[in-house]
Amino acid sequence: MDQTKLDQIRESNNIVDIIGGYIPLKKSGSNYKAPCPFHDEKTPSFMVSEKKQIYKCFGCGKSGNVFTFVRDYEKVSFFEAAKILAQRVGIEIESSKKNPEKQSQRELILNVYALATNFFKKNFNKFGDEAKSYLSERNISQETIDKYDIGYALDSYSGLKNFLLKNHIDKNILKQSGLFGLSENGAYDIFRNRIMFPIHSSNGRVIAFGGRVLSNQQPGGKYINSPTTEIYEKGRELYGLFRTRYEIAKKNSIIICEGYMDFLRLNENGFTNCVAALGTALTNSQIILASRYSKNFILLYDGDKAGIKAAIKAAGNIIQSGFVPKIVRLPISEDPDSFLLKNDDKALKNLIDSAESLSKYLYNEQELGLSERNKLDIIIDILNNTDDRLNCELFAKEIGEQFKVSANALLSKIIVKTKAIKKVNSITLDLFEEEKEILKFMLQNEFNFEKICQEINQDYFLSKIYKEIFITILDNVDYLSNPSILLEKISEENVRNILAEIILQESSVVEIKNFLDQIKLRKIQRDLKMLNDRILISPNELSLFEEKIKLKKIIRELSNKVVRKTLF
Ligand code: UTP
Ligand code: MN
Repeated sequence: MDQTKLDQIRESNNIVDIIGGYIPLKKSGSNYKAPCPFHDEKTPSFMVSEKKQIYKCFGCGKSGNVFTFVRDYEKVSFFEAAKILAQRVGIEIESSKKNPEKQSQRELILNVYALATNFFKKNFNKFGDEAKSYLSERNISQETIDKYDIGYALDSYSGLKNFLLKNHIDKNILKQSGLFGLSENGAYDIFRNRIMFPIHSSNGRVIAFGGRVLSNQQPGGKYINSPTTEIYEKGRELYGLFRTRYEIAKKNSIIICEGYMDFLRLNENGFTNCVAALGTALTNSQIILASRYSKNFILLYDGDKAGIKAAIKAAGNIIQSGFVPKIVRLPISEDPDSFLLKNDDKALKNLIDSAESLSKYLYNEQELGLSERNKLDIIIDILNNTDDRLNCELFAKEIGEQFKVSANALLSKIIVKTKAIKKVNSITLDLFEEEKEILKFMLQNEFNFEKICQEINQDYFLSKIYKEIFITILDNVDYLSNPSILLEKISEENVRNILAEIILQESSVVEIKNFLDQIKLRKIQRDLKMLNDRILISPNELSLFEEKIKLKKIIRELSNKVVRKTLF
């Protein structure tokens, strides 16, 4: 997408309308405030400036413009975010030119899945009597069937194939769709005589299928699933999320179950803040995806041993991702589906309300026949793979209390690989306050900008970050009056957040002269240091001494003016 297009989209989408459409904003002075949607907090420190068309959270530091907000809130790419905003105001955009072949291939496969979904739905209505009665026996309503696009695959090796060929789908694309097997007679339908559950991406497009047999006598696995394709990677998606994500955000808790039927049953019974992980171990990318909507994970896995093991594994993964899950204990022979068919909603609600932390759950766990030693080993293994030291310590403390062992003893058993926290040390930056003040000042208007450029250049900046911001401003003078674009020009998040902070602060014109003197003084002191080094190497060069005298004179003058202590 070219810059003019992006400008057009940005200018047509007022940031207050966009963010206000996702979270309630309260007017506060000339800005708007809200609890930050990107981190947990009670007192609002998330600020939106209508005048500057940017947002900034003074709690977690996140900042940006309309594009980055939609990107981070909806968990989509920058390009997708621009598309969403363009659509909203009716701006047309052509698809990415960067990798047109790959892009269009994805589109073609998505198109195959859209066609297949409709084909399966049509078959369900026309030829799916057996499928219909199967689902109605399992108490799944027509509303749910419609809402989740459930369909039926014919008992035929070529039903879908012929349908797609009739619709002029390229044979090559059929091959890559993952919907067909290959024999000596050519391609054949993988999904036959099955109830079809489409898996949607979080923006609602079908990217894969799960198909269930209608009876236990039928050959093949109970469920078969689409393989990995250009558009689908197992363990990256959560079944149902596209419909339940706003409920999850609103209730601020997410119930994770294992299967399609569990998910549908939970929905039928009003537990609408749920998703299904679909039999695979809950992965880090699924956890991150879910955590966009809520960080309060409730694991509602099957009551059998496999379910208990899977829940413990999932809980461990959630802890390693930095969150604190709760686990629901179901009777050993039940899954959420069967439980809700035998008990009322309230019974499940009670079980959910008494869900346990992993340490408590493990402590009370008896079905797996684990000794206390085994349980602690499971825990140490989880701790061993947790990068975050603080998280480790909190968890160890909780475990220690539960199992009545010393938390320190637990911690001593683990080798914590603390990841270097990539965060700018604000204390270091404070040393360069005058650089920040100068940036603030020059961002106010073109007049200020000119003034600063006449006095100094980038060599005057000691802080790498402020220097980068200074250069960015110089490179983008045209956008001086439109700081939300300036933000876009900086790719590194840390630096961008600091720029946002600078943009949002007021500058004091009165003091700028003093700040300029300070920064100049520091520069000349540095020059003098370098000059002294050169004199050491060539002590006979007279011009160097003349230069030194000149510099010293300027330093004296400036020092008299500068009141504050400087770095050197
Ligand atoms: P379950 O065996 O618990 O299935 O597997 P279920 O959800 O209770 O299914 P119903 O009630 O018999 O219809 C849980 C999930 O694991 C995946 C499916 O996503 C299933 O929903 N699975 C299971 C498979 O992918 N293949 C299988 O053969 C079995
Ligand atoms: Mn089950």
